[in-house]
Amino acid sequence: MAAADRCHQRLPIRLLADCPGLLGTVAGWLQQEWFTPAGHPATAAIEALEQRLHRDRAPLALVATSGNAPVGTASLVLAAHPLEPGEALYLSSVFVESTSRHRGIGRQLCNAAAARAFGMGVERLFLLTADQGHFYAGLGWEPCGERVTSVGSKLCFAHLMTLRCQAPSDRSGRRPASTPSPSRSETLEAIAARTHPRLAAGSLA
Ligand SMILES: CC(C)(COP(=O)(O)OP(=O)(O)OC[C@H]1O[C@@H](n2cnc3c(N)ncnc32)[C@H](O)[C@@H]1OP(=O)(O)O)[C@@H](O)C(=O)NCCC(=O)NCCS
Repeated sequence: MAAADRCHQRLPIRLLADCPGLLGTVAGWLQQEWFTPAGHPATAAIEALEQRLHRDRAPLALVATSGNAPVGTASLVLAAHPLEPGEALYLSSVFVESTSRHRGIGRQLCNAAAARAFGMGVERLFLLTADQGHFYAGLGWEPCGERVTSVGSKLCFAHLMTLRCQAPSDRSGRRPASTPSPSRSETLEAIAARTHPRLAAGSLA
């Protein structure tokens, strides 16, 4: 167990599929944090979460609860693989309610989501973050490039990060494969079209 986990109270991390009554509250967080700023309609987060009610495959959502109240969430979603053809699993929609931050809940949610992904046989997880790279680095995630993504109506650079399943046979200390970062002299639109149109069209939510 990590030292930080020992310092904080461990909260139950539940599948949203097992507590669908919390969907509205969780959707409200995601709507306010990402979907409304991105210009999506008021029902967009609800519709996204309704797709994440799986238990043993993505997309799925997790909820941390304190008593009966939800205090944070994280999702596993499928999107275009950033390094090769096909799809990859991404950690997304990581959010802790503002009055519950800095108590280890974000860490517990991310670790629970990763454990679930690796338990499903996934070898490697990805995420995109515009401004929380240090938080994820503290959880063992490694940067593996930059991408252009949309935040609100704007395109911006986002850090692509990866976490590998630490199987006993994979402790060689190799760095994860990375791709060249985009040149900042190009326009963001040009980079988005060239590097990863599906990621560029999506949001960090
Ligand atoms: C980012 C977020 C999920 C962190 O949740 P949290 O519950 O406060 O995080 P934790 O308490 O588990 O922090 C875990 C560790 O990361 C550190 N940390 C937390 N936020 C950090 C940040 N923004 N930058 C760097 N480190 C951070 C903590 O100090 C802690 O370190 P420690 O274990 O050594 O003490 C939360 O701030 C949030 O919901 N932000 C708004 C939504 C968001 O930006 N989500 C991420 C989208 S990519």
